[in-house]
Amino acid sequence: MGGLPKKAQHLISLRKKKNTVLALDSGALLFKDEKIPTDQTQQLTTTAQGIVTAYNRMSFAAVGVARQDLAAGLKYLLTLQQKSDFPWLSANLVRRNQSKPYFKPHTLLTINGMNLGVIGLTGNQGSDTLLTEKDNAVILPWEDVLPGQIDLLKGRTDMLILLSNLPAATNRIIAEKHPEIHLILQSGSVSGNLAPERINNTLLTQVEQQGKSVGILDVRWNTRSKQWEDHGSKNLLLEKKNELDRLGWLINRYRKQGDPKLVFKDQPETLTAYDSMLTQREKLDQEISRLMAEENARIASRAQLSSFNYRFEAMRKDLPDNPEVRAIVDATTNEVNRLGKMAAKARSAASLTNDQMFFPENYAGNSVCQSCHTPQSEKWSNTKHASAYTTLENKGQQFNTQCLPCHVTGAFEQPAGLVLNLAADLRQVGCEICHGPGKQHAAQPQDLRPGKPTKEICLRCHTGDHDDNFIFPEALARLRCGSL
Ligand code: HEC
Ligand code: HEC
Ligand code: HEC
Ligand code: HEC
Repeated sequence: MGGLPKKAQHLISLRKKKNTVLALDSGALLFKDEKIPTDQTQQLTTTAQGIVTAYNRMSFAAVGVARQDLAAGLKYLLTLQQKSDFPWLSANLVRRNQSKPYFKPHTLLTINGMNLGVIGLTGNQGSDTLLTEKDNAVILPWEDVLPGQIDLLKGRTDMLILLSNLPAATNRIIAEKHPEIHLILQSGSVSGNLAPERINNTLLTQVEQQGKSVGILDVRWNTRSKQWEDHGSKNLLLEKKNELDRLGWLINRYRKQGDPKLVFKDQPETLTAYDSMLTQREKLDQEISRLMAEENARIASRAQLSSFNYRFEAMRKDLPDNPEVRAIVDATTNEVNRLGKMAAKARSAASLTNDQMFFPENYAGNSVCQSCHTPQSEKWSNTKHASAYTTLENKGQQFNTQCLPCHVTGAFEQPAGLVLNLAADLRQVGCEICHGPGKQHAAQPQDLRPGKPTKEICLRCHTGDHDDNFIFPEALARLRCGSL
């Protein structure tokens, strides 16, 4: 949720420039995965609640129910819905017997005198353990519900939008079958930002998950034609013009030597090649005239078509925070830390004394490595890796299980609850983060030499939303571990 204060500030400045800014989210915003470990439920739902409070502050108009949003259970999302100022949308998450939806299937919005219909669809691919027997709920195939929703809204709206958690390939099929839907925002199976793609009269687009960037779609919608303008022929025209240029250049090269009919009269093959170039040029000329006519017609009718511009903005560290949302985020992370602290206390009181702290298998700990590798250890202790856990302590976040894995050693595959009691020798980003678990090597140094870290190892922590300008060779050089 670290990017939310920047996202909020961005929205405010957009709204200052234009009074017709609509904030929509296709879901998958509360949790990263479809299942959460039970010992993490409290911390993760506290974060989810914080996200909803921030979204309320940001005046979101609608949010789709994605599978990930159900990770803490259907019941939890239904409770959270009551604290949401925006509707959660899903047309296909329904009661098993009556097909009655649990959430609003669609919502109607009015913006600048225009009526928008927004429909939500939850992904039905994947494990069916997402919903329990008690939930009495099923996620229906989109084919069962979408046509009905479209019929219901078509006549009453100027523009139809779908918030879809279905896989990208399915959304393409929907776009092909239902040109009545003008815009699909997906929170699907592929990662990253996807530039809007037009399929018939539907735009399909996606913003990277978990708030790393904001996608801005600037739409000029013609409510009469309800048609997107075509960008296709313009590019084709450019391509053909370039082709003509190349061909003209070749033809001229032949001509420079004199009239080709005379110069090449004893080289029939060259002459044939030359002739076919002339024919091709004629064809290209005709095609370009046709495309130009189309382009002109397009420009003439443009006033009747709808156009869009888009951009994705990364929520970089140096962008300003919105103070109110900053306060919401801080209050949330402090509460998560408090819960973690209680869990850590309960665990150590129950089973662990100070020297029985959690030590993941195969790890030796920093002090062991340091006993043999003095020069590297000295270099390491001068880097920020050596104080990464201290940084969390200074922020009062050392019990926040959502921060710990990247600020300690050997925690990634471990249950978050145990990491709260991690041995002191593995706190900080230590030797074994980069060189791998080294218990065996410490016992048999010559036989089992650890490897050198790859870029992938760094990127587990130096992700886009925590370090927005990580350049591997530069970063490596700054560490100066070993002979570098
Ligand atoms: C008992 C002493 C000892 C301990 C403890 C020890 N090492 Fe080593 N380490 C060595 C020796 C000896 C070598 C091999 C040097 C050689 O043959 O050039 C070595 C080599 C290495 C290398 C270089 C491998 C290479 O190919 O150049 C790395 C990296 C390394 N150790 C990391 C660690 C880490 C991380 C730890 C802690 C988990 C650790 N060592 C613990 C003695 C030790
Ligand atoms: C995915 C890994 C990851 C997670 C999770 C993570 N961090 Fe970090 N954190 C990093 C990295 C990488 C850096 C170094 C960034 C740099 O050098 O620019 C960093 C740097 C920091 C810094 C120092 C630089 C700054 O921005 O002030 C603080 C403070 C910090 N993290 C706090 C936290 C807190 C609090 C949490 C949990 C709410 C957290 N981190 C979760 C990877 C992570
Ligand atoms: C953030 C990653 C990182 C951490 C943490 C780290 N190292 Fe390294 N270390 C490297 C890299 C990268 C190299 C390879 C440098 C090269 O190619 O010469 C290296 C090389 C080494 C070598 C090989 C020596 C040589 O001269 O080539 C040893 C030994 C070593 N590290 C020990 C340690 C010890 C001990 C610690 C903990 C005190 C540690 N490293 C922490 C990244 C790290
Ligand atoms: C387990 C998570 C993790 C891994 C893996 C990791 N880092 Fe870091 N790195 C951090 C954190 C956290 C910080 C910031 C610590 C702080 O400011 O307290 C950081 C800081 C840094 C810094 C700034 C150091 C300084 O002293 O200014 C560099 C450079 C860096 N990392 C490079 C690397 C490279 C290169 C790799 C891979 C070889 C790597 N890191 C792997 C978590 C990690």
